[in-house]
Amino acid sequence: MGLFDEAARTWDLKLPRVETARKVGEVILSSVPVSKGWRVLDFGAGTGLLTFFLAPHVSEIVALDTSTGMIEVLREKVEKLGARNVKPLQGSYGDFKFEAPFDLIVSSMSVHHVKDVEGLFRWFSSNLKRGGYVAIADLLKEDGTFHSDNTGVYHFGFDREEFESYMVSAGIESVSFNIVHSIEKNGREYPIFLSVGQKV
Ligand SMILES: C[S@@+](CC[C@H](N)C(=O)[O-])C[C@H]1O[C@@H](n2cnc3c(N)ncnc32)[C@H](O)[C@@H]1O
Repeated sequence: MGLFDEAARTWDLKLPRVETARKVGEVILSSVPVSKGWRVLDFGAGTGLLTFFLAPHVSEIVALDTSTGMIEVLREKVEKLGARNVKPLQGSYGDFKFEAPFDLIVSSMSVHHVKDVEGLFRWFSSNLKRGGYVAIADLLKEDGTFHSDNTGVYHFGFDREEFESYMVSAGIESVSFNIVHSIEKNGREYPIFLSVGQKV
């Protein structure tokens, strides 16, 4: 059982996680022209904090996560809420090539857990419509103190230049990069950015 499987049952009890997802969701809705007809992918969806925030605004949202524990909790929420447009999917990004490309790919606090971010962005691009958007939130560059255990943490946040270079090399043009939130921990603030890009 992995760290995220163990954390899944109590994941939503930490208020900063809920607040971060809500804030990221709000800024996505105000900075991307999200439409009721859109198909969306939430990469590293966890228990679906961002997924369920966006679900009422779109046609379908696929919630992808490697953790069986996280996907189990997410599935229970789908049942409980009757959220029929939320589609939980367990596995890693490279396991899938979707037949129909997405209008929007979102992610919150998950990309720093992926070793090959350049490969991840190429995969995003290959599963995105031309003109489709990515809206990715993560930690701004930090000193490795954000996680109490850095197992499975491949990047101590990102700076703007590095993150936008991943996008550009995948054929995604940067639209905006803003600090949208901040998590207080260890007596200090860890800023969270939202990077929006559009496939050219
Ligand atoms: C810090 S959690 C964030 C969860 C959720 N987005 C949130 O804000 O609450 C990171 C999530 O990314 C998932 N993850 C890590 N690597 C992944 C991969 N290669 N493919 C899909 N999901 C992955 C983990 O299982 C975990 O649930």
